[in-house]
Amino acid sequence: MTTLIKGGQVLSTTGASLADVLVDGEKIIAVTAPGVFTEADEVIDATGKYVLPGGIDAHTHMEMPFGGTHSVDTFGTGTTAAAWGGTTTIIDFAVQAKGTSVLSTLDKWHEKADGNCAIDYGFHMIISDVNDTSLKEMEACIDGGVTSFKMFMAYPGVFYSTDGEILLAMQKARETGSTIMMHAENGIAIDQLAAQAYAAGRIEPVHHSLTRPPELEGEATSRAITLAKVTGSPLYIVHLSAAQALAAVAEARNEGQNVFAETCPQYLYLSIEDMAKPDFEGAKYVASPPLREKSHQTDLWKGLRTNDLSVVSTDHCPFCFKDQKELGRGDFRAIPNGMPGVEHRMDLLHQGVVAGEISLGRWVETCSTTPARMFGLYPQKGVIAPGSDADIVIYDPAARQTLSAETHHMNVDYSAYEGLEITGKVETVLSRGRVVVSPSGFSGSTTHGKFLSRGLNQYLI
Ligand code: URP
Ligand code: ZN
Ligand code: ZN
Ligand code: ZN
Repeated sequence: MTTLIKGGQVLSTTGASLADVLVDGEKIIAVTAPGVFTEADEVIDATGKYVLPGGIDAHTHMEMPFGGTHSVDTFGTGTTAAAWGGTTTIIDFAVQAKGTSVLSTLDKWHEKADGNCAIDYGFHMIISDVNDTSLKEMEACIDGGVTSFKMFMAYPGVFYSTDGEILLAMQKARETGSTIMMHAENGIAIDQLAAQAYAAGRIEPVHHSLTRPPELEGEATSRAITLAKVTGSPLYIVHLSAAQALAAVAEARNEGQNVFAETCPQYLYLSIEDMAKPDFEGAKYVASPPLREKSHQTDLWKGLRTNDLSVVSTDHCPFCFKDQKELGRGDFRAIPNGMPGVEHRMDLLHQGVVAGEISLGRWVETCSTTPARMFGLYPQKGVIAPGSDADIVIYDPAARQTLSAETHHMNVDYSAYEGLEITGKVETVLSRGRVVVSPSGFSGSTTHGKFLSRGLNQYLI
């Protein structure tokens, strides 16, 4: 089965060029000047459209247990929503609970995901119980294609690791060439501030943000960078939200340290003002790190331009407003942390192109090519080139759409961007050569997605 995508502007990290793309089976076999090939089993006219490598969302939480409940998108619903939004690969987090083994956790996540995804997927491993066995099991994870490990400086008593435990895991990362991903917030200090706020009757969602000041993200980020420097471990800061944290990352990168960071669309577009909405509506925006004052957004866009922020992921972790966020109505500390977003990342970052914040090339780079390289998937993923998987998005840059829970495909009862009007829309999506989304709707299947055994971070020096 061959497919010819003709007449489009093919996008890469360096921008756009008019070209045709020929797909045979699951692979791209040629990228040519327009008109070189004229026949194929299926011909898609992409005139006036962008043709870009499928999005890679390197930070999702499908079916994740958290705070006595679990995120509501299954691997099936979440990857289907991702496909609708032009994302053709996710990397989800397997979560080692304290007192359990890392490898049994990995088995469990395979059981949940295998045979249940609409697009290709990989895993990171969350290490929350550092001991000799866990450290040893990191090696087996790498052999199994899980080459990155998330740790938490936040959530004491749940996922939190001490500096000593982080040091041990970083030594293992240095030894194996794997990457430590860090949730960098000072959870010990935050828990005290949150307890004080609650005791003083400040129970509303906005206090989630007010008790997690940006300085405590900056401090934890600096500490993680120092531990990485001492151990020689590669470090990737997840969901960076604060100017203070970005400054620490930029300084480390200027010194040549293997430090990388991602941000998420919610930190670029939403703010603490959303968390202060009345009638508990602010609970929709409770995630950690929290939404910040708007001034941070200027720094984050700049970081995306300078590559101090090299990846945009969603941290998709949806909880329903009605029956799950509700758990924290009388105490903001009990609101499940997380927001939906896997479907809208490509569209939201395209707004950055429309607004002149980032170039077309940076859009593709931060949303597809760099995550592929960072997490050992390139050039199988992240580029339109002969030999690469035919994960392709045909995007109409002129279309208009309004984001809403009424029309999104995520399995959650609200949109964090309800009513937002945007320019640009995904028209057609191919996953390994198969059309999974087209103007006539979703034509994929939740048995199509394959597990991706990943290599090491390709940016390490
Ligand atoms: O609030 C968030 N971010 N929930 C998901 C878990 C995490 O820390 O990434
Ligand atoms: Zn986190
Ligand atoms: Zn997360
Ligand atoms: Zn629900």
